[in-house]
Amino acid sequence: MDQTRMQLALQERRQLQLHRNQAPLQPLTAGLLRGGGKDYLNFSGNDYLGLSQEPVVLKALCDGASRYGLGSTGSPLVTGHQYPHQALCDALCDWLGFDDVLLFSSGFAANQCMLQTLAASEERLLLDKLSHASLIDAAKHHAGGFKRFLHNDLSSLDKLLAQTLPAKAVVVTEGVFSMDGDSPDLAALSALCQRHAAPLLLDDAHGLGVLGSEGRGSWQQQGLTPASLQACMGNFGKALGGSGGFVAGSATVIDYLRQYGRHYIYSTALSPALCVALREAVLLCRQQSWRRERLAAHIQLLQQLAKAEELPMLASDSAIQPVLIGDTSQALAISDALKQQGIWLGAIRPPTVAPGSARLRITLSAAHQPAQIRQLVQALGQAYRGTH
Ligand SMILES: Cc1ncc(COP(=O)(O)O)c(C=O)c1O
Repeated sequence: MDQTRMQLALQERRQLQLHRNQAPLQPLTAGLLRGGGKDYLNFSGNDYLGLSQEPVVLKALCDGASRYGLGSTGSPLVTGHQYPHQALCDALCDWLGFDDVLLFSSGFAANQCMLQTLAASEERLLLDKLSHASLIDAAKHHAGGFKRFLHNDLSSLDKLLAQTLPAKAVVVTEGVFSMDGDSPDLAALSALCQRHAAPLLLDDAHGLGVLGSEGRGSWQQQGLTPASLQACMGNFGKALGGSGGFVAGSATVIDYLRQYGRHYIYSTALSPALCVALREAVLLCRQQSWRRERLAAHIQLLQQLAKAEELPMLASDSAIQPVLIGDTSQALAISDALKQQGIWLGAIRPPTVAPGSARLRITLSAAHQPAQIRQLVQALGQAYRGTH
């Protein structure tokens, strides 16, 4: 593509108020971040349990770097899979109860590998309509094609499963949807998949650490077992406070991915120091249920206050609490008004969400204080009324 065409596309995005800026920021402790020399309350991060700033985890990162160095210096099947990687894999298996896991440099890569490797070329992928970009992009590359069922709608999935016959289908969904914060009925969805002998692949990026006993995830909270899923993707960039991702599954599924998963085989393994820190984060996440309890209390408080302010909240019980605005310029105006008052809450606009469904996506953390949540809702209520 020539640069003139790129400039035209960029200009179009600016005209539609869809051009995104990237300002350098510094996350601080206690739900704050610094940008342009000013401190803000941060309601846009994914550090759901506050582990990204946890001193024990940071010490593990420094110790890991002194002992193992900065990078893994190799792809996992050459020299990249080292003792810290194995210790992290063992901690994940012990926590989640899957036979084995593979680590990836991002959740995006983990999803790409999971879908592209586990669906056979003659099988069709069936994805929820609101699936994350990493799942949709993987599906677009799939030789067997893909279809999307209506969001969290089992009868829509049932119809697609019937239409797919005699070809086989592989079903893909998320434990908590990233832009809406809601969840499918996983027990019913799993039973439907079993009736059709269709493997189920789950992206639990936003459920891991937050939901279920010891934070095992949305599948565990809803009564599923590892055997209910062909594979489960999780990532380290949200509740665990780091970065990277993994796919968990049976010994056969994981060995198949290890042998055939191109994203795994041909990519530098995670930093070993990061793996040392992530293992510590996993242990704290399991043990410190007070973090989940604190987050749950914050979710409840936000919902109560938002109801009193009559804010148009989407129904969500997760750490993701979207305020549906609809119009892009209104969403931007509210976000700007909040910024003036020292609150960082980005507007989420198309193409990340469907046209006409721009929103302010509040994300809560155990690191927040109740007073910060009160401040947010009060400012949001004022700004919302000011634009309506
Ligand atoms: C549902 C979902 N899946 C996958 C990803 C990708 O994970 P990562 O950020 O680790 O690449 C994200 C992150 O934004 C997500 O929200």
